Amino acid sequence: MKKTYTLVFLLLTVAAMHIQAQPLTQEIKMNKFITELMAKMTIDEKIGQLNLPTAGDFTTGQTSSSDIGKKIVEGKVGGLFNIRSVEKIRSVQQVAVEESRLKIPLLFGMDVIHGYKSVFPIPLGLSCSWDMELIEQSARIAATEASADGINWTFSPMVDLSRDPRWGRMAEGAGEDPYLGGEIAKAMVRGYQGNDLTLNNTIMACVKHFALYGASEAGRDYNTVDMSRHRMYNEYFLPYKAAVDAGAGSVMASFNEVDGIPATANRWLMEDVLRKQWGFEGFIVTDYTGIYEMMEHGMGDFQTVSALALKAGMDMEMVGEGFLLTLKKSLYEGKITEDQINKACRRMLEAKYKLGLFDDPYRYCDAKRAENEIYTDAHRMAARKTASESFVLLKNEGNILPLKKNAKIALIGPLADNRLNMCGTWTVAGDFEKAISVLDGIQMVTGKPELISLARGCNVVADSILETRIGMFGKPTGWDSRSPEVMIAEAVNATENSDVIVAILGEASESSGECSSITNIELPENQRDLLRALLNTGKPVVMVLFTGRPLAITWEEKNVPAILNVWFGGSEAGAAVADVLFGDVVPSGKLTATFPQNTGQIPIFYNHKNTGRPLPEGQWFHKFLSNYLDVPNEPLYPFGYGLSYTTFSYSDLALSKNSIKPGESLDVKVTVTNTGNFDGKEIVQLYLRDMVGTVTRPVKELKGFEKVFIKKGESKDVTFTIDIEDLKFYNYDLSFVSEPGDFKVFVGGNSRDVKEGSFVLLE
Ligand code: BGC
Repeated sequence: MKKTYTLVFLLLTVAAMHIQAQPLTQEIKMNKFITELMAKMTIDEKIGQLNLPTAGDFTTGQTSSSDIGKKIVEGKVGGLFNIRSVEKIRSVQQVAVEESRLKIPLLFGMDVIHGYKSVFPIPLGLSCSWDMELIEQSARIAATEASADGINWTFSPMVDLSRDPRWGRMAEGAGEDPYLGGEIAKAMVRGYQGNDLTLNNTIMACVKHFALYGASEAGRDYNTVDMSRHRMYNEYFLPYKAAVDAGAGSVMASFNEVDGIPATANRWLMEDVLRKQWGFEGFIVTDYTGIYEMMEHGMGDFQTVSALALKAGMDMEMVGEGFLLTLKKSLYEGKITEDQINKACRRMLEAKYKLGLFDDPYRYCDAKRAENEIYTDAHRMAARKTASESFVLLKNEGNILPLKKNAKIALIGPLADNRLNMCGTWTVAGDFEKAISVLDGIQMVTGKPELISLARGCNVVADSILETRIGMFGKPTGWDSRSPEVMIAEAVNATENSDVIVAILGEASESSGECSSITNIELPENQRDLLRALLNTGKPVVMVLFTGRPLAITWEEKNVPAILNVWFGGSEAGAAVADVLFGDVVPSGKLTATFPQNTGQIPIFYNHKNTGRPLPEGQWFHKFLSNYLDVPNEPLYPFGYGLSYTTFSYSDLALSKNSIKPGESLDVKVTVTNTGNFDGKEIVQLYLRDMVGTVTRPVKELKGFEKVFIKKGESKDVTFTIDIEDLKFYNYDLSFVSEPGDFKVFVGGNSRDVKEGSFVLLE
């Protein structure tokens, strides 16, 4: 017996060594290859690897590169972005590997943010599915399609936490929660990179924007951020770290400053936090003209800011060419070292090696794949299903929804028959003309176009100047120059023979996204006028709300009986909307960002601190407590909120122990019952509160969730396991610790309506 054990043990040890040895040998091979290559490189060629110009198909700022072809031949380009199609990419790659001296292949990057040609919901919508498998699959499909079109690097996932819906880029992230944001970040990285980056259908992820970009002052894009390290470590950093832990190959620096130094020049952030504390081994790219912009930040002239960026740990410069134009001079003047250039160059070459580009620079240039793997029926079906899982039912008075397929529908609103505005922001490869509009979707799902009467009712916004600002990037909103009165009268007319009014309202695709900040997050008055007129008809009204941010729809919540929030669902949006409106899919999405009652409540988020003068729950105003004179503290809809066509009840919350010691764990069990008339999915959420700490702790923190399918009338037990890691946080010295004491546990279907238990963490 003993002998057998020893043998098995030996075999296992050898096998484990072998498994470990494999990546090690690969790493040794890679290092040797790169060392030999770098020995042949001139300083100019090394600096050239750090240069990332844009091909200019789609840009978000000044393009300061010219003669890109010539520069590629001279070895002055490391990668190119905003170029797509196998044909174009192959021909550019050919220049690099056939005409440049050292034949180093290029990286090809692109903002593949929520799908490629098969467009998935905007990330904020995607996050509301709370479905890690679907989210990972969406990134997998995006990677498959993008790589089939020649791209090998995506500027995604965007994991910036944000609590400010004025900021248009909330649309690109996963909402306000660090834990959920972290889980989503990991799923996205897994989806893009898979297990093997050298496969031709995986692409390198780029986590952005490091760091804190979502906390820009007043929600104005590119604005200053000022935050305590306590908050950075406990909240905003977590999703970036999760993505790094999941193996993301690259990181993008943010535009904003961190602790008084722009992220692009912030050595503490890049070297101490990212590389030393988190062990990040990939490369760091600046954001678009991030180096150049540091002159405006007041950090010095072009040469100075370029040197600062390199010294802070930037490996690649996106647009601006500060590295290309000034680093050599800085080297000769002793302002930077050759070692700093070498380190950056090595990381760029490593990325190319990891993608398998030195073995085959045309790995991602397979014209057959481009034909067969992009915008396939299967991918579109996946996008449609994912979209329907991202919708959040906010209100459904009198169970107006789901609708009957033979109902006569007045389909009203500027987004009802609007293919161009279905995909949402950052859809650089999407074919908007082909997107499924709500009108298309309803016709497809009911098969009864004759039952629909359509009217526009109003423009997306009343002001034509604003309309041109939100109609960018090939997504005009379809401005109608008739007077509001005429449009409303036409809409009311169209409702005459209908059983139900479905109003398709909200924002246009580009009302949110980069540089789309706003100061008032209510629905525009012209849309509300239309709603008033529709409600006055006395017919039931369902509002389908397109939006890239939480909106303050307090008036609508009071007056409109049913509200379905559909974000921007992607290329199949309209079909998914119809799937949910007619009950083929029962809605199950839950909000990942709090909806405020008005703009003035911002920032408002569920995991806030208690203050020394908290207002007791359910109360409004109390002199000298922390509240407002004019509006209660409560949000309109809390984090985690979302209804279904069925209802769920929670009972029998039970903890397996009243106390735990470090090293132990405890189970929290709850019974969830489907008490309504539909089978449905419920997202069960677990929150904790650490009651006493050496630093103040939030009133609630999400620590677990599970999406469960429960048939009508049935119950399911859901069990969460809490261990010591769930109880840890960064203390005043920024050590990650747990502290003994009382904890509360909350379980429920949103962050407000919860069952409560408690336990003690012992020494
Ligand atoms: C954005 C990035 C994006 C880059 C390249 C910038 O303006 O901030 O998110 O990846 O442009 O398109």
